[in-house]
Amino acid sequence: MLKLARATNADIVEVSEFLSIADLTLSGLDSPSVHLWISRDETTGRIIATTGYESSEDSEHALIRSVAVAPELRGGGIGSDLAESAMQRAVDAGAKQAWLFSRRSGPFWQKAGFSSAHTDDLAGALASTHQVQLFTETGQLEHEVAWNRKL
Ligand SMILES: CC(C)(COP(=O)(O)OP(=O)(O)OC[C@H]1O[C@@H](n2cnc3c(N)ncnc32)[C@H](O)[C@@H]1OP(=O)(O)O)[C@@H](O)C(=O)NCCC(=O)NCCS
Repeated sequence: MLKLARATNADIVEVSEFLSIADLTLSGLDSPSVHLWISRDETTGRIIATTGYESSEDSEHALIRSVAVAPELRGGGIGSDLAESAMQRAVDAGAKQAWLFSRRSGPFWQKAGFSSAHTDDLAGALASTHQVQLFTETGQLEHEVAWNRKL
């Protein structure tokens, strides 16, 4: 398992660059409701993996987001560890359900215990989150694919 450190405000620019290469959403990364962890290469110091979640106002629901592995390190189990880690930290904070959006990596999330869900159910459970608000405002919500699992 990679060593994960809580991302601080000083990391956010670099995290944004890393996530945009992975083609993931950048909204609200510096918000207190978005919990992010990063792993850096011990030699170069560059970010090689990120994981996190955004919580609902009542903390019952967690929107898993920003799970990404540097392209050259994919396929070796790091992504699964990152997903588990985000879910465990959400459980520790009181979450009972995990949700996420993923158009491309559905099979990866199914292996992590997620099943297909309705985007409207996700948007209802996590209405206050930056990602849901962004996707609602831009109309992207209807093109998204939602996933859900019990924690
Ligand atoms: C999705 C991602 C995090 C997976 O990381 P990874 O380190 O390659 O994942 P793992 O090696 O732990 O893969 C676990 C399993 O899922 C499978 N898998 C991984 N990515 C997959 C994908 N995109 N589609 C189908 N299966 C996938 C692997 O083959 C592996 O299967 P196995 O257990 O039968 O061997 C990585 O591809 C990534 O960073 N993608 C870009 C960002 C992204 O889409 N994140 C998800 C949305 S938050």
